[in-house]
Amino acid sequence: MEKLDGKKLSSQIKNEIKQDIDKIRSEGGNIPHLVAILVGHDGASETYVRNKEKACIKTGIKSSVLRFEADISEKDLLSEVAKLNNDSDVDGFIVQLPLPDHINEQRIVEKIKPDKDVDGFHPVNIGRMTLGMPAYISATPFGILTLLKRYNIKTEGKHVVVLGRSNIVGRPVSILLGQKATPGNSTVTLCHSRTENLKSITASADILIVALGKAEYVTADMVKQGAVVIDVGITRVKSGKTKSGWKLLGDVNFDDVAPKCSHITPVPGGVGPMTIVALLHNTVAASKQEIYKHQHRP
Ligand SMILES: NC(=O)c1ccc[n+]([C@@H]2O[C@H](COP(=O)([O-])OP(=O)(O)OC[C@H]3O[C@@H](n4cnc5c(N)ncnc54)[C@H](OP(=O)(O)O)[C@@H]3O)[C@@H](O)[C@H]2O)c1
Repeated sequence: MEKLDGKKLSSQIKNEIKQDIDKIRSEGGNIPHLVAILVGHDGASETYVRNKEKACIKTGIKSSVLRFEADISEKDLLSEVAKLNNDSDVDGFIVQLPLPDHINEQRIVEKIKPDKDVDGFHPVNIGRMTLGMPAYISATPFGILTLLKRYNIKTEGKHVVVLGRSNIVGRPVSILLGQKATPGNSTVTLCHSRTENLKSITASADILIVALGKAEYVTADMVKQGAVVIDVGITRVKSGKTKSGWKLLGDVNFDDVAPKCSHITPVPGGVGPMTIVALLHNTVAASKQEIYKHQHRP
């Protein structure tokens, strides 16, 4: 069994991005600028934004965070989005989800200009991704694809089973791996809470991607011998053994499943760090106008 070490790989990719940014700087080019909007004080969102900032600093990408209290109105948040859309100094921005209940997330996401939507959540980017056109691909699916590619895991002709059909993980990764591309060319089965005979489907997977949000749900009897297992899940549980008093669990029971796998991602240190570098990659692509030939940089 080989561990798919997202921590190590993401650090390597951050070094590659840093070299790219150093070159841009030495040539007097535009330094990519990523902005995150953070509303309220959700612990997981704060951590994600902090990690993103750290990764930006490490690579030389300019990073800003706009913080708002949880009682900001939808109208005021929309006007912040409009300001960033029109700010020629900003290459890409994200609105960290979830937003408070009184704000309609979809309405906010749809107001982000697709050429600055480095999270790849706007319907235009999702539509373009689905059609195989150039698009910002949302960070977690992109991170998973990068992990598979860099570890030379063959996806062509393989049966990929995805557990979970969310718009940010399960559905896009199932679309991407089904496309005529590399990584891709897989035969994909997308499972969800209404799937019947789940165990018999997962046990036929060459590559099993799990994004449920149910700690240690996948056990060895659900996995084929020699399978590749990608665990996206992150559940924070109390722990007496860590300094913080918390530990993170994946959706896969690692100790039970790992001996059966050819490759498996740990949690933490698997998909999580790859998600961050995918966002950085999209930001650099935005600044270089690789996806859209837009005008925000004169
Ligand atoms: N590592 C990272 O960077 C990263 C990024 C994003 C998310 N995550 C983590 O990944 C997990 C999933 O996140 P998400 O946003 O994709 O979750 P989500 O929106 O809550 O979706 C969960 C999906 O799992 C399905 N599901 C739930 N219970 C099931 C069961 N018993 N059998 C089969 N399917 C079941 C649901 O089916 P229905 O559609 O039928 O309800 C739904 O499609 C969470 O732990 C989250 O924290 C990690």
